[in-house]
Amino acid sequence: MIDTAKYGPWALIAGGSEGVGAEFARLLAKAGVHLVLVARTAGALQQTADACRLHGAEIRTVQADLSDPGACSDIAAATRDLEIGLLILVAGANTHSREFLDGDLAEFRRVIDLNVSTPLALIHHFGQAMRSRRRGGIVVLGSLSGYLGSARQTVYGGVKAFSRIFAEGLWLELREHDVDVLELVLGVTRTPAMERVGLNFDAPGVVVAEPADVAREGLEWLGRGPVHVVSGNEPIVTARNDPDRAATVLAAHRTMQRLLHAEREPDDGRGTTHGAGRASAPGRG
Ligand SMILES: NC(=O)c1ccc[n+]([C@@H]2O[C@H](COP(=O)([O-])OP(=O)(O)OC[C@H]3O[C@@H](n4cnc5c(N)ncnc54)[C@H](OP(=O)(O)O)[C@@H]3O)[C@@H](O)[C@H]2O)c1
Repeated sequence: MIDTAKYGPWALIAGGSEGVGAEFARLLAKAGVHLVLVARTAGALQQTADACRLHGAEIRTVQADLSDPGACSDIAAATRDLEIGLLILVAGANTHSREFLDGDLAEFRRVIDLNVSTPLALIHHFGQAMRSRRRGGIVVLGSLSGYLGSARQTVYGGVKAFSRIFAEGLWLELREHDVDVLELVLGVTRTPAMERVGLNFDAPGVVVAEPADVAREGLEWLGRGPVHVVSGNEPIVTARNDPDRAATVLAAHRTMQRLLHAEREPDDGRGTTHGAGRASAPGRG
């Protein structure tokens, strides 16, 4: 399924310890690709690394906070001797769900650094080598939140919109150099991060995907960028692109409010949230 000559010998997964990132890791290890896994929590990193080693792949772990300004240099230093043929940027859940004026600007900046500053630095670093070799792939995880503004997700929605538009431009620039670029747009996905914040996966009208299916779909679409929306979410994207923005944004907001009444408030403590999928398509709820 994976062309190891094109995307090997090593893949780097930023956010590769659990959820969709861990599933990417398992699939790639099975296919014979060696892995660099990056995340903050040592235990989960080790567990995923051990599981992947069972498939015979070499695994290197890097414990780093991707919202720190020095993250890219640390990762570059830890991988100096490796040929990274595939870069998968997974980590990016919303860590600060507050109304903008009431929120902490420094916390909003961390959402930007996790989703924009560090991904740009990593892509700039590893993408140059891929372009020189004329092979490789870059996958960035997007969100339905990037198609529409929503309350308490102003910054998160903005960075996910940035990510998708950036990926489209990069896809254009790199396709003639045989480097693939894919923005993989997720709807609600049953990841450990979302389970920890108690996301209501049973809310009416919500399409819920499993991390293993999302990762498999991502690898299947790797060479068919620039954007792939995880199956089942296409009608939501169509509805969110309606040119009547006031009606579209308000309809989604009302749906979101109804759903929020049925569940507890997310984003407490280490809580992360994506917002997007809980609101069904505008006008549907
Ligand atoms: N799950 C959904 O419903 C959903 C919906 C739409 C879009 N998405 C997108 O899918 C991606 C994955 O989401 P997710 O739900 O799995 O949660 P996530 O927290 O974005 O990703 C989990 C992985 O990233 C690592 N990670 C998180 N923050 C990190 C940081 N600051 N530095 C280093 N590693 C970090 C986690 O390990 P550690 O915590 O140990 O660091 C874990 O390996 C995100 O980009 C998100 O925006 C998800």
